[in-house]
Amino acid sequence: MRNLLAILKHSLSISAIVLVGIFVFLKWVLPLFTAPLPMSLIGLYVALTFSALMIFYTMSGASLEEFMGPIHRFLVGEGQEGVAKIARLLLLILFPLLVGWQTYTSLAPSDFPPAESRTIHPAPPGEFVGLANPLQPTEANIQIGKGIYASRCSPCHGSNFDGKGTAAPGFNPPPANFRDSGTIAQLQESFLFWRIKKGGVGLPIEGKPWKSAMPRWEVELTDKQVWQVIMGEYDGAGQSPRTWEEEE
Ligand code: HEC
Repeated sequence: MRNLLAILKHSLSISAIVLVGIFVFLKWVLPLFTAPLPMSLIGLYVALTFSALMIFYTMSGASLEEFMGPIHRFLVGEGQEGVAKIARLLLLILFPLLVGWQTYTSLAPSDFPPAESRTIHPAPPGEFVGLANPLQPTEANIQIGKGIYASRCSPCHGSNFDGKGTAAPGFNPPPANFRDSGTIAQLQESFLFWRIKKGGVGLPIEGKPWKSAMPRWEVELTDKQVWQVIMGEYDGAGQSPRTWEEEE
């Protein structure tokens, strides 16, 4: 028991525990409260912590010896026998192999397609720019729009306007989440009018590479119904369209 405690109190163990602890905290505990961090950022924090530990343990000769001593003795094989000897031999063989494998995999050509980016909000064709909604924002128009939304749009965009419709998991790109500040809240009504009328097939080349499943609603809805569904959409999602005044 006392032996275990001594091992745990050793600076090497403390460093390992701190590093693993930071990693576990950033990777699994923090996302419970906020958005998850990207792996590159977690790597950066762990590296910073590692540097801090190194600075701390190399500050005095005694702590340096405590920290590096076991590593040094292990590597030079001082007074080693049995398991320690085999472990050292294994390390000396496996480490160069690992570095070689790492180098090979990072340099070998891969058959994965390169990542392509998609312009989510490409410029609409000229005839749609600046169109204004001709309808009054009356309760009747909004309710009719919400009705159209419920029957036509909610299977993909979700009855909660959050992009989580029952059919949504099948599509890439996924149906837009209208509650997110990155979709309709950023857009003008004329942009929605274009997207709803022309759908995924109406997207210009920079809106690819994937085929959007967004239907071309001009086939089934009249212009009036499209304007109504736009009003229902904004109202239901608790957003308002971007206007010219805001942009100035
Ligand atoms: C078959 C599934 C499906 C249905 C049904 C559907 N959509 Fe979509 N919609 C999508 C997908 C997928 C996208 C995201 C890709 C894109 O931008 O084209 C999208 C995008 C949109 C966008 C663009 C949002 C942005 O940020 O650019 C609007 C607006 C929209 N949909 C409105 C509607 C409306 C209104 C209806 C009903 C009349 C509807 N959608 C029905 C699949 C669907």
